[in-house]
Amino acid sequence: METSQIIGKLNGKVAVVTGASRGIGRAIAERLSHDGAAVVVNYSQNADKAWELVARLEADGGRALAVRADLSKLADVQNLFEQVEQHFGHLDILVNNAGVAGGSPLDGLDENDYARIFDLNVRGVVFATQEAVRRFGPDGGRVINLSSVLGRMASPYSSLYAASKAAVDSITRSLAAELGSRHITVNAIAPGLTATDMGDSFPTEVKQTVIRNTALGRLGEPQDIADVVAFIASDEARWINGQTIYADGGLR
Ligand SMILES: NC(=O)c1ccc[n+]([C@@H]2O[C@H](COP(=O)([O-])OP(=O)(O)OC[C@H]3O[C@@H](n4cnc5c(N)ncnc54)[C@H](OP(=O)(O)O)[C@@H]3O)[C@@H](O)[C@H]2O)c1
Repeated sequence: METSQIIGKLNGKVAVVTGASRGIGRAIAERLSHDGAAVVVNYSQNADKAWELVARLEADGGRALAVRADLSKLADVQNLFEQVEQHFGHLDILVNNAGVAGGSPLDGLDENDYARIFDLNVRGVVFATQEAVRRFGPDGGRVINLSSVLGRMASPYSSLYAASKAAVDSITRSLAAELGSRHITVNAIAPGLTATDMGDSFPTEVKQTVIRNTALGRLGEPQDIADVVAFIASDEARWINGQTIYADGGLR
């Protein structure tokens, strides 16, 4: 008897999705599990939401585990991957999704804002990738980073967040060049404004402007992004490497 789990494109794979209790990360975890991967649901605060997701994925026939780790702290990052290794024995896919936004005029910024955004959005990505790559097997693996359209668009009050995502794009290109010989691809997905807690935190005027400037005339949904991540995680995307892929409905 065949089920969608048995014929899934990611059967036998183990995936870590950082920041998967809510928003885009949650949709990615659901989609990768649907495609057959065992999924590690990382969270920072919302244990209830993370474990509720694990229970649902398991009820649908999947394998999943929730692990608390603040990805801006190196010790937590290391502990996350130790738990992955203990529980699943190997690792194939890392989705660096956990991220934090926060807009402010230049004059309102302080060192704490800088640390909050860069420690998670940049340092977290680098050291989670380091830990993951150490555990990829001889067949290599996939690293998929969540960037943003703001990594290349000029938008006021976004200097730190935009710079952190431009850094993600740059890290993506460098690590793709560095890790290709080990059969590891590194790509980034850059969403436009997407309907999540983070997306909802933007002022209504900003959302309306984005919708007006988006060819498809709406905000993104987490599933729109998760489907692209699932494609990059699949064997069909084996020749895509070092790219930032814009998933923004045609935002100009
Ligand atoms: N939404 C958008 O419009 C948009 C657009 C472009 C790019 N992005 C990018 O897409 C990614 C996901 O965004 P989202 O909108 O889904 O965000 P979100 O709704 O704010 O959800 C953030 C997720 O990250 C987790 N998280 C927060 N801080 C963390 C930390 N220090 N360590 C580990 N996990 C942490 C949260 O866990 P808890 O629930 O436990 O707090 C939650 O699961 C981010 O990288 C973001 O920059 C989003």
